[in-house]
Amino acid sequence: MSVAALILAAGEGTRMKSDLPKVAHRLLGVPMVQLVLDAATEAECEPVVVVTGHRAAAVEELLPGVACVRQEKQLGTGHAVMCAEEALAGFEGSLLVLSGDTPLMRPETLRALVVSREEAGAAVSVLTARMADPAGYGRIVRATDGSLAGIVEQKDATSEQAAIDEVNTGTYCFDASTLFAHLHRLSSDNAQGEFYLTDMVTVFRSEGLAVAAVTTDEPGETMGVNTRIQLAEASRVLQGRINERHMLAGVTMTDPSLVWIAPTVTLGRDVVVEPMTFLYGETSVADGATVGPNTRIYDGVVGPGAVVEQSVVREGRIGPEASVGPNAFIRPGTVLEASSRVGSFVEVKNTTIGEGSKVPHLSYMGDTTIGKGVNVGAGSITCNYDGWSKHATVIGDGAFIGSDTMLVAPVEIGEGAVTGAGSAIAKDVPPGALGIERTEQRNMEGWADRRRSARDSGDE
Ligand code: UD1
Ligand code: CA
Repeated sequence: MSVAALILAAGEGTRMKSDLPKVAHRLLGVPMVQLVLDAATEAECEPVVVVTGHRAAAVEELLPGVACVRQEKQLGTGHAVMCAEEALAGFEGSLLVLSGDTPLMRPETLRALVVSREEAGAAVSVLTARMADPAGYGRIVRATDGSLAGIVEQKDATSEQAAIDEVNTGTYCFDASTLFAHLHRLSSDNAQGEFYLTDMVTVFRSEGLAVAAVTTDEPGETMGVNTRIQLAEASRVLQGRINERHMLAGVTMTDPSLVWIAPTVTLGRDVVVEPMTFLYGETSVADGATVGPNTRIYDGVVGPGAVVEQSVVREGRIGPEASVGPNAFIRPGTVLEASSRVGSFVEVKNTTIGEGSKVPHLSYMGDTTIGKGVNVGAGSITCNYDGWSKHATVIGDGAFIGSDTMLVAPVEIGEGAVTGAGSAIAKDVPPGALGIERTEQRNMEGWADRRRSARDSGDE
C-alpha cells in the first residue's frame, strides 16, 4: 500500500522566543523540519508535503524541491491538515501526519505505525508514549476496555485527565480518504479556539470507524521541541544516537559527549574523533584518520590516515595521510594531495597542495596550484588580491619557497626553483632558478658596540 507523509510546520513556536520559525532551529547543524523530512523519506513516503505558515519563506528556503502548502493563519493542527487537502487530492492509502517539531522520530517507528493501522483496518493509528512528565502534551484517554477513546489537550483536561501519563506524540497514520471525508467535522470549540487534529479520534468513533493506538517503547524519539531547553535535550539524544552508531561501526571517541556529528556525516573504520570536534554537513572521514581535538569540519572530505588537529575545514579535501594543524584554516576549493602538510597558523583557500608538499607555518595560500615535493617556508604568503580581482599563483614540483616570500600574483615559480627568504616575487621565476628580491645586506663594523658604550657613558 502506498504511504504519503504530511509534515506540520506552520506554527510559530512562541515558546522558543525566537525570530526564527521553530522548525528552522537546528540540531547538530540540521534544521528540525529537515530531520522529520528525512525520517519520512527513509520510511519511503511518497509524496511528502510540508505545511508552512509562520515565516513560511524562511522554512521553504530550507527545503528546496519539497512540496510545500501554506497555512496562512495558524488555526490549529486540524486546520493545517485541511490546507493540504488539495495537494494530496487523489492520493489513496496511508497518510502519516508528523509534527515538524518532533525531530527524533525514527523511520522504523513510522513504518510500524503504518503497519499497525493497516492491520487494524483503522481510520487512524495514533503513536503514543508514556512520559514521566506528561506536561504540555495531549493526554490519551482510554475506554474501560483499553481502546482509544479520545485525546484531550492539556489546556482542556480535567485534573483527572491531566494525571494520565500516556501522551499523544503528535504522530499519526490516517487512512487518507477517510480523513479528508470527515475532516470538515472538526470544530474549534475548545480552550485554544483551534481546530485540533486530535479530535478526529472522537469524530471517527462517533461514525463507528475503528481507531487504534500504538505505544512506543522508545519515548525519547517522540519528544516534541517547544523550548530551547527541549532543543538542547533533543540535540543530546540525537548526538548520543549518532555517536553510538559510529562507535558500534568501529570509530573511537575519547569522550562521545564532546563530539557533535551531523546525521549526514560518514566515518570509516578506526577513525578517532577527539573531544570538542564538530563534523557537519556532507563531511566524510576515511579509515584510520584522526580528527580533533578542537576541530570543526563542514562539508569536508578527510582521506585515510589523515590527521586534522585543532583546525577548521570548510569544503576542503584532505588527502590520504595528509596532516592539518594545529590552528589551520582550510577554506573552500582546497585540495591537499596525499601526504601533504598544512601546519600551524596557515590559511589555505582555493588551492591545491601537491603530494608530499608542505606549508608548515604562518602562511596564506590563495588561488594557488602547488606541485609535488614543494616546501613553502614560514611566513610566506600569496598576494592574490589586488583590490579588484583575484590572481593565480603556480608553484612547480620540487620548488623551495624561502621564508617570508611574498608571491605577488599572477606569478609562476618554475619546477625546482628557489626564492630567497624575504623576497617580494612579482615576476615569474624560471625552472631551476633562484628568484631573489631584496637589497643587499650591509654590515657596519663596531656599530653596536659604539652605541652601547655611548649609552653606558650617559651621552644618550
Ligand atoms: C500537539 C498535539 C498534542 C501532542 C503534541 C505532541 C494538537 C491539538 N495537539 O500539541 O496532543 O501531545 O502536539 O508534540 O494537535 N502546527 C501547524 N499549524 C497550526 C498549529 C500547529 O502547522 O495551526 C504545527 C506546528 O508547527 C508543530 C505541530 O503542528 O510542528 C504541533 O503544533 P504545536 O502547537 O506544537 O502543538 P502542541 O501544543 O505541542
Ligand atoms: Ca509541539
